[in-house]
Amino acid sequence: MTVRLAHFSDIHLTARPLGWRARDAFNKRTSGLVNVKLLGRGSRFKHANDVITAMRREFASRGFDQLVFSGDATTLGFPTEMHEAATRLGVGDPTLPPGIAIPGNHDLYIGRSVRDRFFETAFAPWQHGQRVGTDPYPFARKVGHVWLIALNSAKPNFLFWDATGRVGAEQLQRFRRLCALLDDGPRIVVSHYPLLKEDHQVEPRWHRLHDWRAARDTAAECGVSLWLHGHRHKWYVLPPGANLPFPTICTGSSTQTNRWGYHDYTIDGWHLKGVRRGYDLASSAFMDAERFEFDLSETFSRNADTC
Ligand SMILES: [Fe+2]
Ligand SMILES: [Fe+2]
Repeated sequence: MTVRLAHFSDIHLTARPLGWRARDAFNKRTSGLVNVKLLGRGSRFKHANDVITAMRREFASRGFDQLVFSGDATTLGFPTEMHEAATRLGVGDPTLPPGIAIPGNHDLYIGRSVRDRFFETAFAPWQHGQRVGTDPYPFARKVGHVWLIALNSAKPNFLFWDATGRVGAEQLQRFRRLCALLDDGPRIVVSHYPLLKEDHQVEPRWHRLHDWRAARDTAAECGVSLWLHGHRHKWYVLPPGANLPFPTICTGSSTQTNRWGYHDYTIDGWHLKGVRRGYDLASSAFMDAERFEFDLSETFSRNADTC
């Protein structure tokens, strides 16, 4: 009973041409473009396409059962960027393992992103799973003996400095109903936002998941024993604590220069072994960087304190 997962995140690809329209001058894309062109964000991702090429080689050759993407495929949330990212990742390529994907806040940059399902259209082959109702999230997919539950925590934001997320009461209600349908096996949430930072503290006000407490408590009720995420671009493994009933893993940005990498998880029964595969610019390849391991246990949820 062993399952191998590749977890990657925050690749922030872009495309040429973007498909810019006049109305984009009045939404969040304008500030995003300033960030990319003038504030250095673009240069931090200048090797992103090469890193994705190397990562795709890993996906094809390392014996993974499932690819797990925790969001921020794009830079400014354009459909052109969405399709560019999906194409470069090999979404729908039958020679690669199947994937599961949820959007990040950059993928839902403007209100139309949600209504017109930009992300879900481009990543359709990675959106298959069990749902309650017709809403795209959450959905669950069983890989071997492990349940992966895709929970959307990203939302469009209007203010230029706002990078916050929210799962929302309605989705949490669907999450409860979905969990009631799942049979035995470890349950792992895949979402964009972290519950907590590396120090078990809440993220800064304009970067956080607003309803992190409700998301945490609902996940604990549902017997979740691990939360996989991105959004923060530096990777970390967070053990359970007084305000966290189960561990969380941030894989960081897979493509940002000098933070680049992804995680290779082997889940044997209820035990997880993780290998961080870091990107090496000189060889244009990934190599082992660090290792970690812990037990996944249903008892985490029962030991939960709240704050
Ligand atoms: Fe990101
Ligand atoms: Fe993000």
